[in-house]
Amino acid sequence: MKKILATGGTGYIGSHTAIELIKNGYEVELLDNLFNSKVTVLDQIEKITGVRPKFYEADILDKDALDKIFAEGHYDTVIHFAGLKAVAESVEKPLWYYYNNITGTVNLMEVMKKHGVKEMVFSSSATVYGIQDTPECIETMSTGGQISNPYGRTKFFIEEIIKDYVVSDPSFKATILRYFNPIGAHESGLIGEDPNGIPNNLMPIIMRVAQGKIPELSVYGDDYDTEDGTARRDYIHVVDLAKGHVAAIEHIKDGVSIYNLGTGKPSSVLEMIAAFEKASGEKLPYKVVGRRAGDLPEIWANADKAKRELGWSTELTIDDAMRDTINYLNHVKE
Ligand code: NAD
Ligand code: WQD
Repeated sequence: MKKILATGGTGYIGSHTAIELIKNGYEVELLDNLFNSKVTVLDQIEKITGVRPKFYEADILDKDALDKIFAEGHYDTVIHFAGLKAVAESVEKPLWYYYNNITGTVNLMEVMKKHGVKEMVFSSSATVYGIQDTPECIETMSTGGQISNPYGRTKFFIEEIIKDYVVSDPSFKATILRYFNPIGAHESGLIGEDPNGIPNNLMPIIMRVAQGKIPELSVYGDDYDTEDGTARRDYIHVVDLAKGHVAAIEHIKDGVSIYNLGTGKPSSVLEMIAAFEKASGEKLPYKVVGRRAGDLPEIWANADKAKRELGWSTELTIDDAMRDTINYLNHVKE
């Protein structure tokens, strides 16, 4: 069985993926600088799986620390989740985003090279598609054009770095996963999305509104050319997404492979509000405000390639995600 290091492993997607990997018999170790996650996630992973993964509190910018970790670890595969991801913040602090995400990835890959680690799964994003003529994204489409923010460009640049690296070492195996909009929580209610600081994404904001920490949700625009006028996204349950990583590791192959991980079906902001209200039985206060700069009217995944090549497709619905989010919120309250 492969031994895996997950950078950013205590984060939202990393922690859910660690659980699925452990459930599938993999040995997984986690590395994180805890900038946007909490070490207590390890207790929750242990409660859920019965296994407490080894954890390194370390920064991917610290190459010496990485070197020591890899010298001990003898990993087969790295899943590289670590990164900063707040779109608005990346506009204000682009150099920090480029340094952390890009320099961090280059460090990591250099250390992987030194230690002969030849398999990498990278957390990319639908944002690399930029603006397209059609909202349904397929992996063969061009990327890097008209990306609206530095965060998104870090993902595009890292994809290009990985492609260049593979040219220099064709025996390297890299899988780039382009996530659409991850939401939801583990069904146990023990882990979920718990960002440090002010959230940017729709679901964490809905959660703060439900907790009374934010008075109401601002819906960014209802004048888009969609059925209800609000923007549409492909929201994917984080546990489905986590399982996508297990499938990616099982099917990893020489060269670079790229997969969209999404449901293939978009939902509007108003549909998300309605689903949350249905699951919670309570009204969610919101008001419609102007469009948010840089937002696309709609975007969703064509996820056929992942189904065809990885044998993976989503199983959970928006309603499942809302139920699990509310269950998680109830646990956080206790
Ligand atoms: P997250 O913030 O919960 O997890 C990322 C983790 O990386 C955090 O725990 C953070 O502390 C850690 N980290 C950041 N910089 C680091 C550094 N220099 N050294 C070590 N650790 C560092 O975010 P997430 O939602 O779990 O996202 C995981 C990955 O997936 C990220 O790369 C993100 O850009 C990408 N992604 C996320 C989404 C999304 O909407 N959540 C969508 C597409 C892609
Ligand atoms: C979703 C929808 C908003 C907040 C971003 C990144 C992308 C990826 C996922 C990492 C949009 C609307 C939101 C609010 C709202 N992340 N909204 N009121 O913008 O699709 O994608 O996160 O890679 O790269 O760009 O996600 O959750 O911010 O927004 O009406 O307070 O919710 O307009 O339609 P987005 P989001």
